[in-house]
Amino acid sequence: MTDTPAESTTTIFEQIGGDAAVEAVVEIFYGKVLGDELLAGYFTAVDMDRLKRHQARFVAQALGGTRPYSGRSMASAHEGLDITAADFDRVVEHLAASLAEAGVDGDTIGAIAGRLAPLKGDIVTG
Ligand code: HEM
Repeated sequence: MTDTPAESTTTIFEQIGGDAAVEAVVEIFYGKVLGDELLAGYFTAVDMDRLKRHQARFVAQALGGTRPYSGRSMASAHEGLDITAADFDRVVEHLAASLAEAGVDGDTIGAIAGRLAPLKGDIVTG
């Protein structure tokens, strides 16, 4: 338990560099998602600036950031989009690749993916 103080004060969010790092990752991530012809169709009617802002806050929160996420629940934000399990996995893979490009180490990427995986049941409806 010697590492308990460090664990309780250093979140993944802080380890990767806080807001600026999260925003850089979101920028890379959306380039990948919109450049993927299997995924781009989901986003054609969405205001991307607004979505990026929300996504950045949400991801920061998933990583243990301090600012609360105040948007819609994951279930209601994705309701009616008919997102398949395969497309959910593709999006998570693009996020992992974006984190790697931004210099985040593999263990940390695994921890982040592990925190997003439980959302699959709320997001996948197709
Ligand atoms: C890792 C899992 C995911 C997270 C954390 C996530 C997070 C979010 C957040 C925070 C919003 C904005 C909610 C709001 O504005 O109130 C959102 C909206 C949206 N997400 Fe996701 N999402 C995930 C997976 C996916 C996947 C797999 C797809 C499609 C393949 C997708 C497509 C969309 C679309 C199209 C919207 C906009 C809906 C609208 O404004 O009508 N998301 N997501």
